[in-house]
Amino acid sequence: MKASDIRNKFLHFFEKKGHKIVPSAPIVIHNDPTLMFTNAGMNQFKDYFLGNKIPIAKRMVDTQKCLRVSGKHNDLEEVGLDTYHHTMFEMLGNWSFGDYFKEEAIQWGWELLTEVYKLPKERLYATVFGGDIAEKLEQDTEAYTLWKKYLPAERILFGSKKDNFWEMGETGPCGPCSEIHIDLRSENDRKNISGESLVNTGNPLVVEIWNLVFIQYNRNSQGLLLPLPEKHVDTGMGLERLVMAIQSQQSNYDTDIFQGMIQHIAQKACILYGKNTQKDIAIRVISDHIRAISFTIADGQIPSNNKAGYVVRRILRRAVRYGYTFLEFHEPFLHTLVPLLAIQFEEVFPELKAQQDFVMKVIAEEENSFLRTLHKGLKKIDIVKEQMHIISGEVAFELYDTYGFPFDLTCLIARENNLSVDEEGFKTQMQIQKERSKKASKMNTSDWNIVKDNIELSVFVGYDTLETVSHIIQYREVQEKNKKYFQIVLDKTPFYAESGGQMGDTGSLITSKKNIPVFNTKKENELIIHYTDEIPENISEPITCRVDKNKRMLTENNHTATHLLHAALRKLIGQHVQQKGSLVDEHILRFDFSHFSKLTAEDIKNVERLVNEKIRENIPLDEKRNIPIQKAKEMGAMALFGEKYGDNVRVITFDAKFSVELCGGTHVKNTGQIGLFKIRYESSVAAGVRRIEATTAQNSINRIEEQESVLQNLQALLQNPKDMVKTITEIIQEKNTLQKQVEHYKQQDIAVLKISLKKNIKLLHNTSVIIETISISDRESLKNLSFQMKQEIPSLILILFANIEQKPYMSILFSDDVMQKYKLNANAMVKEFASVIDGNGGGQAFFSTAEGKNISGMPILKQKIEYFINKALL
Ligand code: SER
Repeated sequence: MKASDIRNKFLHFFEKKGHKIVPSAPIVIHNDPTLMFTNAGMNQFKDYFLGNKIPIAKRMVDTQKCLRVSGKHNDLEEVGLDTYHHTMFEMLGNWSFGDYFKEEAIQWGWELLTEVYKLPKERLYATVFGGDIAEKLEQDTEAYTLWKKYLPAERILFGSKKDNFWEMGETGPCGPCSEIHIDLRSENDRKNISGESLVNTGNPLVVEIWNLVFIQYNRNSQGLLLPLPEKHVDTGMGLERLVMAIQSQQSNYDTDIFQGMIQHIAQKACILYGKNTQKDIAIRVISDHIRAISFTIADGQIPSNNKAGYVVRRILRRAVRYGYTFLEFHEPFLHTLVPLLAIQFEEVFPELKAQQDFVMKVIAEEENSFLRTLHKGLKKIDIVKEQMHIISGEVAFELYDTYGFPFDLTCLIARENNLSVDEEGFKTQMQIQKERSKKASKMNTSDWNIVKDNIELSVFVGYDTLETVSHIIQYREVQEKNKKYFQIVLDKTPFYAESGGQMGDTGSLITSKKNIPVFNTKKENELIIHYTDEIPENISEPITCRVDKNKRMLTENNHTATHLLHAALRKLIGQHVQQKGSLVDEHILRFDFSHFSKLTAEDIKNVERLVNEKIRENIPLDEKRNIPIQKAKEMGAMALFGEKYGDNVRVITFDAKFSVELCGGTHVKNTGQIGLFKIRYESSVAAGVRRIEATTAQNSINRIEEQESVLQNLQALLQNPKDMVKTITEIIQEKNTLQKQVEHYKQQDIAVLKISLKKNIKLLHNTSVIIETISISDRESLKNLSFQMKQEIPSLILILFANIEQKPYMSILFSDDVMQKYKLNANAMVKEFASVIDGNGGGQAFFSTAEGKNISGMPILKQKIEYFINKALL
């Protein structure tokens, strides 16, 4: 069975058992402050478990792209070294939302593994939760009894909270779990050592393949377990391991999921896989990492210096360094692997194929830049090597922080060079940095205070009205740095919560006693959260919610203009233009899109013109809510990669032939309201991503007025020329001509000066000595003069004094032979004598200058210098 068959069999097995097949959520998570990446199949269903949202089906099944490289579940260090951990992996899952529970979950799990996949029954083990005294949780005897139907008692093991109580993070839905493990060792090995003694001990051939979680609690921020209103099933089976078991392999990497990539990399490195441990590890790491990198980028996470972007960058650099060090890939190579992956996943995750060029471009750019710093970092280590034998904590940290070197890479290179690394010092530096960033992001959130139990939370009515009467359902207090504020959830609200690039509404909550300003509105999963500095005295009274109308209107201008811009770009620049990011507030609109080169001035003008034409057409808003996603796509609506859409979507159309988008934002009723669209600039944000910032309505007019006023001022300065560009061009030309003339006169000056200086040469012991006060216009000429004299007169001492721009100035120049013969040093002399004119200066041993403040000191300075030189030449 091929991996793709195994995946399909899973989905269809559960479909037959009444489950709805749903797509994977994006691997990158945008609106959950507790999670950057999807780390489990259940993430996208969190709100169903907590009861915040009602699922459209009680049973679902899917395969989910997951990433476990940060937070509670982090496998990064194991990847490649062992044979069964991954950064990105696929998790097959079947879900019950308040429907079936342990009995069916276990029964179907057994049926699928043994009857469909035909895994040998005698090699399977189940673990069940053994209880936990501190948490006051009992043994899961129910699961144990259910397993007894299929497995002998010795193959059902009780496990601790660590292995058999599953939690998604510090907080959130959780519950006891029952894992299914498989023993893939040889018959002989199995006879010698029993499988049960190896379950959960890290043996690569006795591995967990499926985790059945019985979700029944919510862990709150105080660490307490609160029972959920309903019981749910969340199962997760690692596809890669399952395929290894079914294909009777000993490593995930030996399955058809990875072999294509592995052989390809080996071929590029001109080696055979399986011949050298270190090279094999490198190949495995790369074949794993390229998946994580490609899919996170395809889902919209561009590598960067912080948060989720930094996680992607770290994985990418790890891959680059394995390639560089062990496979001798010294040129960018990771990006060339993308097409292979794109084809492999075309059927199940088409987003990669659809954005192949973009993803390649982003990766290539990153590789290029790390290969540059990698080289610099290596140089840095060379310097350390020359000077000492230890890489200090500071240097290791600098390598890590500035040159992007993972600490283990530093250690590896250190070993090759017989250097040691101060690991403790490095840890201290890391700790200092951690404390710094912890301080910067410290945010303490209390648990929700429930005011009212309501079926409906956060119903958004703001498409139709900007004012409504609501009730507070729950609120909590947040302490962030030195600021304290409140977050309030209402039963219904006209406040638009920041999402899809549109900033949240502001406005007020009006109670019988006062007007409480709402300074922001954001979304957390499905909850619409209002930010305020206080809460009403009487928390359960009805509240009038009023959105700031003017700000909303200005924001809507910019949001609709963004749609028009997107459509115009696709029409004029090309269909490859995809939205990569957007920001819309009451001042501007900022739109990031995939495109490979700078837009020309002509492009920009044409885009502006088209958008403004559409504005003048005064096209009415055509808004369709709740239409099936399939139908929306047929209407030509563009879905964005990395965005999660439900089965039913909202479609915003401005001229069905021009702009049709899936969008949850708010828009103008007619495009005419936008007034005037003006692009402020177009620039690059990342490899293959361009950015346009633009304004609408009065903001555009303001900008035009500002530009007009600049023009008027120029006009006045230039005394109203007929053709301003021509006049300015002439002024510039004139300036250039004058500059050339000045240069010419200066050269003449120098020539004249040279003649008169040469007349005043004093010969002292075969040395030509000139110590003179001259008149010269600038420092540069003085230097030129000195250097020309040096060329023309052998064995020269030339010391000149001048008054340049009202300041006393001295320059000292020695021919090389004179300098050596008399041990003279111009720099030292300047340092010694400059104080006579209240000055200072410096330079090189053969030529130095000094500038002072006290002109009247010049005669004395000259005397002292003459005395000094005479003495030196004695
Ligand atoms: N939530 C469980 C896990 O991630 C099962 O899906 O392992």
